Amino acid sequence: MEEIPRQRTLVLTGASRGIGHATVKRFSAEGWRVLTCSRQPFDARCPWPGGADNHIQIDLADPNDTIRAIDEIRAKLDGRLDALVNNAGISPKGPEGERLDTISTDLRTWGHVFHVNFFAPVVLARGLRDELAAAGGAIVNVTSIAGARVHPFAGAAYATSKAALAALTREMAHDFGPLGVRVNAIAPGEVETSILSPGTDRIVEKLPLRRLGQPGEVADVVYFLCSGQSSYVTGTEIEVNAGQHV
Ligand SMILES: NC(=O)c1ccc[n+]([C@@H]2O[C@H](COP(=O)([O-])OP(=O)(O)OC[C@H]3O[C@@H](n4cnc5c(N)ncnc54)[C@H](OP(=O)(O)O)[C@@H]3O)[C@@H](O)[C@H]2O)c1
Repeated sequence: MEEIPRQRTLVLTGASRGIGHATVKRFSAEGWRVLTCSRQPFDARCPWPGGADNHIQIDLADPNDTIRAIDEIRAKLDGRLDALVNNAGISPKGPEGERLDTISTDLRTWGHVFHVNFFAPVVLARGLRDELAAAGGAIVNVTSIAGARVHPFAGAAYATSKAALAALTREMAHDFGPLGVRVNAIAPGEVETSILSPGTDRIVEKLPLRRLGQPGEVADVVYFLCSGQSSYVTGTEIEVNAGQHV
C-alpha cells in the first residue's frame, strides 16, 4: 500500500498582515498546516480550516511571553516541525512619521525593536530546536534591505536589528546545520504592506524593476527556502527587492 505523505507544519510569526498573511496563504495552498503567532487573537473575519486551533497569541516584545509560548507551540506539534519563519517585525517612527536615528532613538524603543525583531527569533529557534531537527526542518528569518545600508525611512534601531538578524542567520546556519536544520534569510526591499512610509514611491521609481513588490512575491521565496527545492542552501540571505541593492 502506498504511504500517505505526512502533512508538513510551519510556525510563522507576524501572520496577521502583509508578508506574513501572504505566507499563510502560500503554505496553506501547498497543503501545509500553519501555526500562526501574533499579538491579536485569531481573527474570525478571516477564517480558514483549523485556523483558530492553530493560532498562538503572543507578544514577541515581551521575552517572558515568548518563552512561555514555546510550550504552547510544542504542545500543538507532533514532535516535528518542518519550518519556522521569523517574520514579525516592527519599524517605529517619530511622532511626525520621521526616521528615528542613532541620536534620537531612546533606549526603550531600541530594546522594544530588538526584542521583536531579533531576540524572539533566537528564543523560538532554540525552543523549537528538537522538533526542527526531528523533521529535518528549515528556518527563515525575514531581514531587510535596511540591514545592509542606510534607508531614508527605516530607523537606526530597525536597521541594526535586521543587520543583527542577518548575522544571526549565519551563526545559526553554523550551529543548526549538524542537526540537519537549514537556516536562511530573505531581505525584502519595498513591499506593499502597512510598514511602508509615505514617499516610498520616490524610491520605487528608481528601482531597476520600477515597481513595488507584492507580499505574495516574498512568500514565494520563503516557500522556496522551506521546500526541498533548496535542500543544499543554508546560511544565505536572498534579496527580494527588484534590484534595489545593485
Ligand atoms: N513591507 C516591506 O516593504 C518590508 C521591507 C523589508 C523588510 N520587511 C520585513 O518583513 C516582515 C513583515 O513585514 P510586513 O511589511 O508584512 O509588516 P506588517 O504588515 O507591519 O506586519 C507585521 C506583523 O508582525 C506582527 N507583530 C508586530 N509586533 C508584534 C509583536 N510584538 N508580537 C507578535 N507579533 C507582532 C503583526 O501582528 P499583530 O499586530 O497582530 O501582532 C503583523 O502580523 C517584517 O519583519 C519587516 O521588517 C518588510
